[in-house]
Amino acid sequence: MRIAVFSTKPYDRIFLDQANQAHQHQLVYLDARLTAETATLASEFSGICAFVNDKLDREVLQLLHANGTRLIALRSAGFNNVDLAEAERLGMTVARVPAYSPHAVAEHAVALILSLNRMTFRAYNRIREGNFSLDGLLGFDLYGKTVGVIGTGKIGLIFADIMHGFGCRVLAHDPFPSADAKAFVRYVPLEQLFEKADIISLHCPLTPETHHLIDDAAIAQMKQGVMLVNTGRGRVVDTHAVIDGLKSGKIGRLGLDVYEEEENLFFQDLSQRVISDDQFMRLTTFPNVLITGHQAFFTAEALTNIAETTLANISAFEQGSGTLNRVTVDKVV
Ligand code: NAI
Repeated sequence: MRIAVFSTKPYDRIFLDQANQAHQHQLVYLDARLTAETATLASEFSGICAFVNDKLDREVLQLLHANGTRLIALRSAGFNNVDLAEAERLGMTVARVPAYSPHAVAEHAVALILSLNRMTFRAYNRIREGNFSLDGLLGFDLYGKTVGVIGTGKIGLIFADIMHGFGCRVLAHDPFPSADAKAFVRYVPLEQLFEKADIISLHCPLTPETHHLIDDAAIAQMKQGVMLVNTGRGRVVDTHAVIDGLKSGKIGRLGLDVYEEEENLFFQDLSQRVISDDQFMRLTTFPNVLITGHQAFFTAEALTNIAETTLANISAFEQGSGTLNRVTVDKVV
C-alpha cells in the first residue's frame, strides 16, 4: 500500500524501514504534522500513518477521505486525537498500536520521580558550575511512602510493581479495577487517593471523564507538598491549576512528560525561536518542576514494536484480515 507517514523524525524512518522489509509497503515520509493545511500532502495515498500530535478532526478526515485515504494507521496507543465517529461515518478504518512497551512509559515515570525527589537535574548543572552546595537538593526516602496510581492498565500496573519494589504503599483508582493487579495494590475512591498519596502518577487515557481530572478541586484535596507526575496525556491536568498549586506550595514537585498544548511545542527544535506559550514558560521557571517532551515511549524496544505493529496493521487492512488492531467508537481491539 502507498502510505503517507506524517510527523516523521529520523528515528521513525530507521525503525519503519527496518520493519517494512517484511511488508514492502511504499512509505513516503513527510516531516509535516498532519493538520487541515497539510492534509492535501496525502492526496491519492490510500493510507496515512499518524502520531500523537497529528490532528485527525472532522475537517482533516473529510479532506483525507475526499483525496482517497481509507486507512488511518496510528503509530500510537492513544487515539484521543481522532474523531472516531466521523471516521466511521466516512467509512475510514482507524488502527493503532495497542501496546508497544508499557515498561518504557512506567520506567520513565519512575525516572521523573527519582530525579525530582533528589533534584539530580539541578545537581547536574550545579556540579558543572563548580557549585557543590546541597541546599535545595533535599529529598525523601521513597521507602514507606504512599504512591497513588490513577489508571491501572498496562502501564499503571507495571509502575505499581516498580514502586512496590522501592517499599512504597500503592493506592490505585480505576473505574475498571484490573484482575491482574497484585494483592499490594489497594483500590480506593479518588478522594481517598488524593488525600493519602505522597506521590500521584497519572496513567489513565484522555477521555471526556479524565479531561482536567487534576483541577483546583482535586489539588485542594491533596497532601501539602505532594509530588504529581503525568506521563498520560496533557489535558488530564489543568495547567493553570497546577501553576497555582506550585505557587502556593501545595504541589511540592511536578513531573510532566505531556502538556496540554504540547502540539505546538513538542518533537521540534524551537531553540532559535521565541516561545509564545506563557503558561508553558511559567512552568519552566519553577525549581521543582521537571518536564520532558513526550519521551516516555522513546526506547528502542518500543520503537521496534510500534513500527512492526503499524506495518502489520497496514498489511492486515490490505488483506482484509481480522488481525487489524482496529479502533471504533464503541470497540477497541
Ligand atoms: P490501558 O488502556 O492499558 O490502561 C488505561 C487504564 O486507565 C484502564 O485500566 C482504564 O480503565 C483506566 N481509566 C479509564 N478512565 C479512567 C478514569 N476516569 N480514572 C482512572 N482510570 C481510568 O492504557 P496504557 O497502555 O496503560 O496507557 C495509559 C495511557 O498512557 C494512554 O492512554 C496514553 O494516554 C498514555 N501513554 C503515554 C505515553 C508517553 O510516551 N508519555 C506512551 C503511551 C501511552
